[in-house]
Amino acid sequence: MTPVSQSDDTLLRCIGCGTVTPVAESGLSCEQCGDLLEVVFPHPGAASEKLNAATLKAIWRERRSSPLPQDQSGVWRFREVLPPLGKDSPITLREGNTPLYELSLCSRITGVKQLYAKHQGMNPTGSFKDTGMTVASSFARKDGFRWVACASTGNTSASMAAYAARGGMYSLVLIPDGKISWGKLSQSLDYGAVTCQVKTDFDGCMRVLNEIVKHKPIYVLNSINPFRLEGQKTVAFELMEHFNWEPPDHIIVPGGNLGNSSALGKAFQEMKDLGLISHFPKISIIQAEGANPLVRTIREKDGKELVSVQAETMATAIRIGSPASWKKALRILAATGGTVEQVSEVEIALAKAEIGADGIGCEPASAVTLAGLKKLVKQGFVKPNESVVLVLTGHVLKDPDFTLKFHRGDLFSGTPFENEARILAPRQRAPIVLDASADAVLSALEQAEKQN
Ligand code: F0G
Repeated sequence: MTPVSQSDDTLLRCIGCGTVTPVAESGLSCEQCGDLLEVVFPHPGAASEKLNAATLKAIWRERRSSPLPQDQSGVWRFREVLPPLGKDSPITLREGNTPLYELSLCSRITGVKQLYAKHQGMNPTGSFKDTGMTVASSFARKDGFRWVACASTGNTSASMAAYAARGGMYSLVLIPDGKISWGKLSQSLDYGAVTCQVKTDFDGCMRVLNEIVKHKPIYVLNSINPFRLEGQKTVAFELMEHFNWEPPDHIIVPGGNLGNSSALGKAFQEMKDLGLISHFPKISIIQAEGANPLVRTIREKDGKELVSVQAETMATAIRIGSPASWKKALRILAATGGTVEQVSEVEIALAKAEIGADGIGCEPASAVTLAGLKKLVKQGFVKPNESVVLVLTGHVLKDPDFTLKFHRGDLFSGTPFENEARILAPRQRAPIVLDASADAVLSALEQAEKQN
């Protein structure tokens, strides 16, 4: 089957004032008003072609059995809806094509009968960032950059460092000192990035990065980069393939810098425009109580101006107080009829253990989805007979410290949450230190059976 051809020209449009510019003449923000940019779709070359829904579905399905790297990638498989790379080949680690799991234990806990997890932690570097990074890093290389950089809470940096290494580019990582998991830090070291632990938080790292790029030609790979969001769109296309193009009632995502929710929303809008789906799922965004700028922006300012916060949460991936893509996220909530909610540290820890006990596992930031779902069910926003997909953004091995402390019972020791954390006891499975005898192990088994 012939793939739909695309032109080499990609246009970027400002989300604030609507100014449209070709990529070559544009930075990462609008020259007129400074707001964020988004890739214009359909792309100019593709617009003249008939992007027929049935043809697209068939092409995308057929590529699953192809041995070519760009077809094996769960991102580039959908290249008709991505900005075209022209003659360049993509930098790919065969990202995407992640599993959709049914969650049986979590379904019983929440009462939601059709409950699924789309596990983006099953990507090559263990988080959803790979789907965006393959696209944006490919454009960095196409544009001739030697250096790429990001400020990060750990996953973007791990992903960027890997793709930069694969693409033969240098990478610079700015992370908040002491506030990311060792697993994520070790990844960017291994992939060869210049890794700076900066004595500030994520928002401070972002400020430093914005200064650096004024002095050196460095390509920024944070999610303000519109090409990142183009790649991150593809999770929605995969999901719709799984569901035979009939959207679930709800999709629930964690909210940090708010790039992911924005990408999802853009994807569903484009699918509707292309006639691939007939209606939207409701996309809802969950934040940690201690890092809740979007929740406060909506509840206190009716979405009119951003309420920045001093972010604090053990779910370090979403420890962000001033999210760049807040306007894009608001647009998605309005278009799809989704909502926002916030969850406590203890609620996050409990939900993470429940997802683990379902045999799936995820990192703390991903678990806000289940914690949020429980609240949305209580409020009646999600009905037990509706279908729900939780987007799990990071792998359980991303933050083993959190998991170990949880099971040993000291995650909340010495914090104001000590009392509330008593409810976690039934989910805790501390490692058992025993004498080297069969009797000792057998009595441990008896104990375990009594507990369950
Ligand atoms: N979940 C995980 C595991 C993350 O790493 C992030 C963001 C999010 C959720 C939130 O996604 O920012 O698109 O709203 N991590 C970024 C990083 C900020 O630097 O790795 P978002």
